[in-house]
Amino acid sequence: MELAAVDVLRTERFVSGESVSRFEEEFAKYCSVDHAVSTSSGTSALSIALLASNIYCGEVITTPASFIATSNAVLHVGAVPKFADIDLATYTMDPEKIALRVNDKTRAVLPVHLYGHPADMDAINDSSRKKNLVIIEDACQAHGAFYKNRRVGSLGDIACFSFYPSKNMTVAGDGGMLVTNDGKVAARAAKLRDCGRKSKYVHDMIGYTSRLNTVNAAVGRVQLSYLDKWNEKRRRNAEIYHRLLSDISGLILPPEGDWETRPVYHLYTIRTKNRDRLKTWLESNGIQCGVNYTLPIHLQPIYKKMFGFKKGAYPRSEELCETCLSIPMYPELTAKEISFVSDKVHEFCENA
Ligand SMILES: Cc1ncc(COP(=O)(O)O)c(C=O)c1O
Repeated sequence: MELAAVDVLRTERFVSGESVSRFEEEFAKYCSVDHAVSTSSGTSALSIALLASNIYCGEVITTPASFIATSNAVLHVGAVPKFADIDLATYTMDPEKIALRVNDKTRAVLPVHLYGHPADMDAINDSSRKKNLVIIEDACQAHGAFYKNRRVGSLGDIACFSFYPSKNMTVAGDGGMLVTNDGKVAARAAKLRDCGRKSKYVHDMIGYTSRLNTVNAAVGRVQLSYLDKWNEKRRRNAEIYHRLLSDISGLILPPEGDWETRPVYHLYTIRTKNRDRLKTWLESNGIQCGVNYTLPIHLQPIYKKMFGFKKGAYPRSEELCETCLSIPMYPELTAKEISFVSDKVHEFCENA
């Protein structure tokens, strides 16, 4: 990775170097789609995906159980996010809630493959296509996941990825990617992320400076070559956790896949009513934990202020945020470490 970075620093342009287009080609191929357009972040990939679909007003249906950037991107382009609650079995958008949110202003649906588990895209596509909605996957946490034997990224009209350092693969900094089979959308997106440029100093769109830097693309190419191997290790780690934790009553484990739907366990998020006490206990034993997320988006202070949301509006997302705890999950985690974490969870639950 370091060698690739140093090599392009010496041989390519810092911006729009050859590594950028190579990374795009390789990422598109990986997702089994025709086009990939790199961006400066997952958030900018989402905004550009919306704008490239001509969405700059109206409403976009998404879920409140996500990182705030998902719905911020909708607001950035001038549209309004409308929330559909999640299915607590998968923590992703409940397809049955879509119809309740659709009206004349609805333009797109933006499901999130939360924690690396694919949303139920067949059902989401069915309801959305009937209403002529653009379908944009927020795959920022799900690089490489499979839904019914198809890669995430190839399931809707457009998909967006983040390469922030905590993700299953990174570009050693901020970065993002938008993928699609629609050549016109890809061409618009490529312009939008590059100042709306038609040629060097001729601009026929109001664009942004949202490009991925060459050195980051070079790192991304190396990371992509390891992604499948790393995801397999994450899946193996999840299997061990499942085996060691499944006998604890009151502890809810993350959704598992099957032979055709394979999550990538960006996070391994358990749920318990005693979340805060379990977190303190694990941390006092040297085990780092996370809460993803402490608040659903609709209860974030700025969303309450802007839209007047109150607690109770999306009860399943709220329940997730009140009970979730992400325990260590990364490819290099050893069976011994997983066993130590699981023992400590057992110890806590037996005395709770
Ligand atoms: C679900 C989801 N959507 C969007 C984003 C935004 O990505 P970025 O941080 O690269 O802008 C993230 C990143 O954390 C995410 O997890």
